[in-house]
Amino acid sequence: MLITYGSSSEALARSVAKESNIPIVETARRFFPDGEQYVQISGDLSGEDVVLIHSFALSPDTLLVEYLLLVDAIKSGGCRSLTAVIPYFAYLRQDSRFKPGEPLSAKVFASLVEFPRVDRIITIDAHLHRFRTLSELFHTPSLNLSAMPLLADYYQKNFGNNNIVVVGPDAESEQWAKVVAERLSSPYIIMEKVRLGDREVSVRGNASVKDKNVVLVDDIISTGMTLVKVIRMLLAEGANRVDALVTHALLVEDSYQKLKGAGLGNLISTDTVPGQHSKVSVAPLISRAIKNLP
Ligand code: R5P
Repeated sequence: MLITYGSSSEALARSVAKESNIPIVETARRFFPDGEQYVQISGDLSGEDVVLIHSFALSPDTLLVEYLLLVDAIKSGGCRSLTAVIPYFAYLRQDSRFKPGEPLSAKVFASLVEFPRVDRIITIDAHLHRFRTLSELFHTPSLNLSAMPLLADYYQKNFGNNNIVVVGPDAESEQWAKVVAERLSSPYIIMEKVRLGDREVSVRGNASVKDKNVVLVDDIISTGMTLVKVIRMLLAEGANRVDALVTHALLVEDSYQKLKGAGLGNLISTDTVPGQHSKVSVAPLISRAIKNLP
């Protein structure tokens, strides 16, 4: 087996290679003067089971083209199988035609990812809401791993599990909040969110969190406005402290400052999207999954 990577996940791929003791194959990417991309993979792939690790965070369209080029390059090297590990899968929140004239973006993006025919697709905490399973999105065999147990364990190790209430900001967050609550032996509450615009949401619900240490749980922080609204509400209800566990911290623009301004304590995320809050690595999760491949 060999591990290789796209430009968005080089550090994570190196961690997975180290963790699993599987050799890494280097890739290079550059842009032509007109903005088109060039990729190259080095090494002999013939007869190998190759694992390509590449997230689609923050510039998904460009990263998708890089992925398509890499898959073609890898397959032309005569590998035995190709597994695409996409730690952050983009476009999944657009999982409905919310207004007339809109595309079903989640399905379109997923179709493009499986168009060059890889043997399997692995992702982490995919935003599954209206599509409830990956098999509703892909024909390719697929696996959705969760970083929530790792995030919960990190939290418990560093902050304990005393007097905690886990809070999920919206209906779809229940799948993640439940796992964290179980791991921290704590109760959980799920709020109701209505999205009013790209940077505007309203949140309501029964937040009985007086004097509690709240652990907010979500899959993604993008503009931060979902969690800003919830943090303000929880602190107004008398929460003692509000920390957040999030798998994919996209943290666009000045979202982190907004979260701190609202009163957020600690933000803990993973390296599916590398950044200063990626305290938890998903490398062990990916290593285990690829070592158990059929
Ligand atoms: C959507 O329901 C997701 O689970 C997140 O709650 C959402 O993407 C967060 O977006 P933002 O940070 O822009 O509010």
